[in-house]
Amino acid sequence: MAKVTIDGITIEVPDGTTILQAARMIGGDVVPPAMCYYSKLETSGGYCRTCIVKVTKGSEKDPRPMPKPVASCRTTVMDGMVVENTVSPDLLEARKGVVEFLLINHPLDCPICDQAGECHLQDLSYEHGLAKSRYEFKRREFEQIDIGEKIKLHMNRCILCYRCVKVADQLCDGRVHGVINRGDVAEISTYISNAVENDFSGNMIDVCPVGALTDRTFRFKSRVWFTKPMDAHRDCKKCSGKVALWMSGNEVLRVTGRKDRYGELESFICNDCRYEKKNTTDWNIEGPRNIERHSVISQNHYMSLRQLKIDVSKQKELAEKAHRDKQNTQ
Ligand code: SF4
Ligand code: FES
Repeated sequence: MAKVTIDGITIEVPDGTTILQAARMIGGDVVPPAMCYYSKLETSGGYCRTCIVKVTKGSEKDPRPMPKPVASCRTTVMDGMVVENTVSPDLLEARKGVVEFLLINHPLDCPICDQAGECHLQDLSYEHGLAKSRYEFKRREFEQIDIGEKIKLHMNRCILCYRCVKVADQLCDGRVHGVINRGDVAEISTYISNAVENDFSGNMIDVCPVGALTDRTFRFKSRVWFTKPMDAHRDCKKCSGKVALWMSGNEVLRVTGRKDRYGELESFICNDCRYEKKNTTDWNIEGPRNIERHSVISQNHYMSLRQLKIDVSKQKELAEKAHRDKQNTQ
């Protein structure tokens, strides 16, 4: 076991735990943002640098600080390590720089992007970004393409986090999709006839932290915050069958996997559940889903409704009191 202190909170974790995993064990504000790390995908992380932290003490044995910020998703804790995340103004400034780089080529098209409201880059730039860009050069541009029948690739929005590549590699047999070229011209591409035909390829959409990969069966149907997320399940031979339905009235607009507080899927789902089961009769509906992330959808329609009821009854009470007061004074 190793003892690590993050933002003044000490926790004991098994050897081999990364700083990011240790921070997630503590939870709350000390958890660094992570755009490319995905706990359910092997070898993910190390690409985006949003999870950087400052190590002010390397370990009990070697207490020297690390000379520059480290990627917390790729750095394992050492016994006695001291880490700063939110308490270090320098680190927050460095993270701002990372966000600025991520946004250099990212279009500011949130008003028309299907991912708006559940986009990790949108949240990240709101929390750590600058109000405007200092970048003056030409941005890279790509044509939007369909990869397979159900997935749209909008490469301009891609931040090259490689999560979709890991899904293609680890979940789908016969990989047909990866990153080609290097540097400024690197892009996600399919090798074989622009098709991603695989039972689990739809999970690429769910793991994409931005709006680069979107579900063609849902595109432009609704802003996500106008939909009602519901937990539902069915007996499925290929996957767990545990999903989130995104409904409008009784219509199922979209089916996705269920995501946890870090925006990661609880389990991967198959394409049959995702694309072919869009009737409420296909599902056993469990009830409203509480969205854990702090985005606009997690404002939670249902809690607002309860709040509204309380307010209405309070208003009624106040109106009756005002009426009684008025009668007493007459
Ligand atoms: S398409 Fe999405 S998941 Fe794939 S590398 Fe780009 S941002 Fe990451
Ligand atoms: S989450 Fe650690 S480098 Fe991307």
